[in-house]
Amino acid sequence: MQQNRGTIRVANSPEALDRVLASIESGRRSAPDWIQLQSRCRIESLATERQEELLRRLHACVLRGFRLPRATRDEGGLALWRRIARHGFHDFGTQGFTKCYGSPFVEDHDYVEGYLDGGLDGLDAYRVYSAVLGTHDYTVEDFLQTPTCEKIDTVIEPMAGTGEFTYHSHFRHPELRYLLFDLDGQARDSLLARPWLEGVSPHYALGNVLDPELWRTMRSRSRGRSLAYIGKQSHHFFDARELSELLALGTSHVDYFILETPEPSLVWELAPVDDLTRPEMAEAGFHAALIEDEYRPPNPFTNELGFRLEVWDESDRRVLFEYPKWRQWQPPTLVALAELLDLEVSYLNDSAGDFVPVEDCELHRDHPRFQTHPPPQRIDHSEAHENVGFMLFRRANGAR
Ligand SMILES: C[S@@+](CC[C@H](N)C(=O)[O-])C[C@H]1O[C@@H](n2cnc3c(N)ncnc32)[C@H](O)[C@@H]1O
Repeated sequence: MQQNRGTIRVANSPEALDRVLASIESGRRSAPDWIQLQSRCRIESLATERQEELLRRLHACVLRGFRLPRATRDEGGLALWRRIARHGFHDFGTQGFTKCYGSPFVEDHDYVEGYLDGGLDGLDAYRVYSAVLGTHDYTVEDFLQTPTCEKIDTVIEPMAGTGEFTYHSHFRHPELRYLLFDLDGQARDSLLARPWLEGVSPHYALGNVLDPELWRTMRSRSRGRSLAYIGKQSHHFFDARELSELLALGTSHVDYFILETPEPSLVWELAPVDDLTRPEMAEAGFHAALIEDEYRPPNPFTNELGFRLEVWDESDRRVLFEYPKWRQWQPPTLVALAELLDLEVSYLNDSAGDFVPVEDCELHRDHPRFQTHPPPQRIDHSEAHENVGFMLFRRANGAR
């Protein structure tokens, strides 16, 4: 997405890196999005104190983060990863060691410490979720950069959980109003405990996303044009009637109602175990996976399935979150529901840089669909980003 672009400065040696950092510290150069350490610039060969000093300087000198050669991370091992994580950077997304955009806050991302101190029970479930499934690679900026959504004043995050979408977004757009809600008070507390930029005070309500009163409250607290975003395909919690209610409520109370959706796929082709184990987990001695519920294998007629996020080590297992009745709503079904509700639907097309009506969707000629041998395994017509896409629902003619 848009944030993949951005300014990069490259340092090939420790001396070059020092010069880059000094020029930013003195104000002679502005902070780049990324600094790339490569060639002779090897963080793992520095003594611990020098590594820490370097990480402190890097944090103050970049907008997004820094990148290391893969081998550096591997050679530095768990100790290097933890040191980096404690100094405010994580690699949970796909773009390198990252902090929130321009954030002055040095957050501690070392969630592995809980395991080292207290085993599986010592792990903070929300932090593990964030490491393996969290939203780190896109923010509201990606939507604001489209001509369709460029003028937004309020961001609403229903089913927000730990609200990473909002949290990441507020660094780039502190001028927006942020409203969130979820059923989970603990998730809310953990979000509100994070450091926020001065002047930003998100409003986080506890409540059911199917409650019309809650949407009315959100609307009354909104200012100007509003955009609601439901991440991690959380609308899959609902059956058809509930999903239809959700689409009707959302589009009645906000201007732009966006769902993160899966790329078209067949539920019975989903792997029963989706191993999410990250290198630092394996190095510390535990694993994580989404595991299909033995009692609810995917039903190809209803697309209903059940699964859980589980961690385990040599001696034990622990379920962190359960998703016992999940419906993998496919984009064509969402489009059909939208038609019944008289809603306009579009999808985010990266190459067009905008939301495009689903009626205008075209498969590219080089798409596997057009190759006869081997036969196509699945159809990707959504310009999906990492197996997900973004679908925008609106009342016809923009009315609400
Ligand atoms: C898979 S998590 C996703 C959290 C977050 N949106 C993200 O992108 O990481 C689903 C969230 O939906 C919330 N949830 C489930 N049913 C809900 C309901 N009926 N009303 C409000 N929130 C609900 C859960 O508490 C949980 O925080």
